[in-house]
Amino acid sequence: MANVVVVGAQWGDEGKGKIVDWLSERADIVARFQGGHNAGHTLVIDGKVYKLSLLPSGIVRGGKLSVIGNGVVLDPWHLVMEIAKLRDQGVDISPENLLVAENAPLILPLHGELDRAREGSIAVAKIGTTGRGIGPAYEDKVGRRAIRVADLADAATLELRVDRLLAHHDALRRGLGMEPVDRAALLAALHEIAPQVLPYAAPVWKVMNESRRSGKRILFEGAQGALLDIDFGTYPFVTSSNVIAGQAATGVGLGPTAIDFVLGIVKAYTTRVGEGPFPAELFDADGERLGVRGHEFGTVTGRKRRCGWFDAVLVRQTCATSGVSGIALTKLDVLDGFETLKICVGYDLDGTRLDYLPTAADQQARCTPIYEEMPGWSESTAGARSWADLPGAAIKYVRRIEELIQCPVALLSTSPERDDTILVTDPFAD
Ligand code: IMP
Repeated sequence: MANVVVVGAQWGDEGKGKIVDWLSERADIVARFQGGHNAGHTLVIDGKVYKLSLLPSGIVRGGKLSVIGNGVVLDPWHLVMEIAKLRDQGVDISPENLLVAENAPLILPLHGELDRAREGSIAVAKIGTTGRGIGPAYEDKVGRRAIRVADLADAATLELRVDRLLAHHDALRRGLGMEPVDRAALLAALHEIAPQVLPYAAPVWKVMNESRRSGKRILFEGAQGALLDIDFGTYPFVTSSNVIAGQAATGVGLGPTAIDFVLGIVKAYTTRVGEGPFPAELFDADGERLGVRGHEFGTVTGRKRRCGWFDAVLVRQTCATSGVSGIALTKLDVLDGFETLKICVGYDLDGTRLDYLPTAADQQARCTPIYEEMPGWSESTAGARSWADLPGAAIKYVRRIEELIQCPVALLSTSPERDDTILVTDPFAD
């Protein structure tokens, strides 16, 4: 059986929700392996809109097991709220179809407070985070002072963990001029939320390995995008987890051989939320038009996304670091009606042509995009379900992208509706 990882191959918001939903129909298990409720996935099923931040997309379909792996940072209050919201929309959620890794670290209110305090501080360069405590929670995980899901089950352990955590955070908060954490209130809040989370807690690594052995199909649902990866993204303007496909195995407790196909989700142009380098960013009417036509506003924060032309250099790079087998190209229809399209095919750095984005921040800032121009098309590509439905110029644009990023198109998505998809290669095929 083939197991498929879906990762964003740009800065997130590539339209993963629809693709994951489309694939989840044939998967037995859908697992999140990194990130937290900083993600924003919008699913449109039969005209009904579901907005997910933490729960795997498989949750809206009956008969699937949804898994939140150890690689995720979990805000228990958000989890309970998101479950309640989906239940209100008629979605069935129970420990029968949702499991949470016992060893997943928790996001606490103090993490969000620290995240927002840092973002608001003039002494620290703003990252433009979602303010949801993602970075501080991962810091505590690596600092070996996180509270994990399993700790919620035992009052004595929980107290020890809280004391260890607060020894660090209270010192940090003093330095930032913040009040110390109210220990009693935090413990009371954790005791209150524990019985609502613990029924879902499980040794996910074991379930995943047994499921794999019994031939279950697993879909690994990535959040954010590879250019926000903590190692390979535009550091420090990144998220705090490994976003690239290799993390899928580590983030649920499987070995790397469990992954058979990596599907990179790629938008037909480029967007980014938050601060940081973006060589092909547009500040003109074309950029404005991409934003308006593409509805480029953040699902989680509502922020306006920065828009630019397709950057083939960056996508070639992320296809390499994630070992992408094929891409799903999304939102091609947003380009309908442009007379001329540009694709970034290299960077000029002080007169030298580069075919990758250098790591040093000063060099990144001096990189100017080298564009190739292609004729656009006036016809609509929205809702196309076969290549024959696409204008010739659109097919040429897609083919040129494949050449430049050195990776084939496996799927072409032409509207938010799940059936508006052109399938070239089935990622789940054995
Ligand atoms: P954090 O993940 O909240 O720490 O934010 C770090 C960076 O990642 C910021 O630039 C965010 O805008 C960006 N980011 C986090 N989650 C997403 C997402 O789901 N889509 C797009 N950008 C994201």
